[in-house]
Amino acid sequence: MSNIKRIAVFTSGGDAPGMNAAVRAVVRTAVYHDLFVYGIQRGYDGMIRGDIVRMDVSDVANIIQRGGTILKTARSEAFRTKEGRKLAYENLAAHDIDGVVAIGGNGTYTGADIFMSEYNIPFVGLPGTIDNDIYGTDYTIGFDTAINTAIEAVDKIRDTADSHNRLFFVEVMGRHSGFIALHTGIGSGAGAIFLPEIDSSIEELSEFLRKSVKRQKLFNLVIVAEGNKNGDASAIANQIKQLNPEFDVRVAIIGHLQRGGSPTAMDRVLASRMGHSSVKALMRGEGGVALGIINDKITFTPFKEAVAKTKPVNKDLVRMAEILAL
Ligand code: F6P
Repeated sequence: MSNIKRIAVFTSGGDAPGMNAAVRAVVRTAVYHDLFVYGIQRGYDGMIRGDIVRMDVSDVANIIQRGGTILKTARSEAFRTKEGRKLAYENLAAHDIDGVVAIGGNGTYTGADIFMSEYNIPFVGLPGTIDNDIYGTDYTIGFDTAINTAIEAVDKIRDTADSHNRLFFVEVMGRHSGFIALHTGIGSGAGAIFLPEIDSSIEELSEFLRKSVKRQKLFNLVIVAEGNKNGDASAIANQIKQLNPEFDVRVAIIGHLQRGGSPTAMDRVLASRMGHSSVKALMRGEGGVALGIINDKITFTPFKEAVAKTKPVNKDLVRMAEILAL
């Protein structure tokens, strides 16, 4: 066991449903073990500005069900600079903080890794992002809620697409990764899914859609990840319309709707487990690691490895989605 006495927790990058459940678990586990715990507001920016407040059990009451993050979040430019990180260190040191739980994505881990190469305060990372694009974990906090929100939205679009015999292109988030698109596509029974990781052909999609119409399937749904190589949903819709002027085409962008809302049971439990385990990890003397869950077991991956490696989408699921769309 290490001599950790005071820990801090913050959320960083895009908010994700379940971040609050993770903060709650960190605070309550810390208090249970007689540690002092602090919340840092607005991620690395708050660390630099010294927005650090003591937290107790009651500060995290009634938040497990809330989306967003009570600690607020930011994508910090200042923390990329040596001067910024020095100020951050001085603020942590002023509170005698000897361990930090960082909840966020790859950018958050990169910042923590650089900071730890300069200063001797251990960080443990928790994967908090709707994108599910972090190496070293099967699931990230927020992903399950985001795909449930997206699927609910697509179900509604399906009703109107069916009623009008329309072809809908629905854009979901995922600049670099297609997990949200793939799972939304499978879960909503989409005709086709465009992912950043897979090259898709407009001509093949056009052919597929024409065949569907021949089989009397008069409406269709195509899920488009924002980062796919063929352009955004409107660009792809325009190309398909040019090739098939007879199609009645519409576009819907789910956007930030899929980042908000009350976390699902899966996300609440995942975040609670991860938050709890992160404090125990700091108490064991671990640092410089990203916590994950693989085959239902808590795992640890060095920040460097988590950031350097890309989590691939499951090609078997991609193939399955094609077969089920027949
Ligand atoms: O990383 C989470 C995410 O929601 C991505 O899916 C999306 O591309 C991006 O953040 C949007 O960022 P912002 O909220 O800064 O526009």
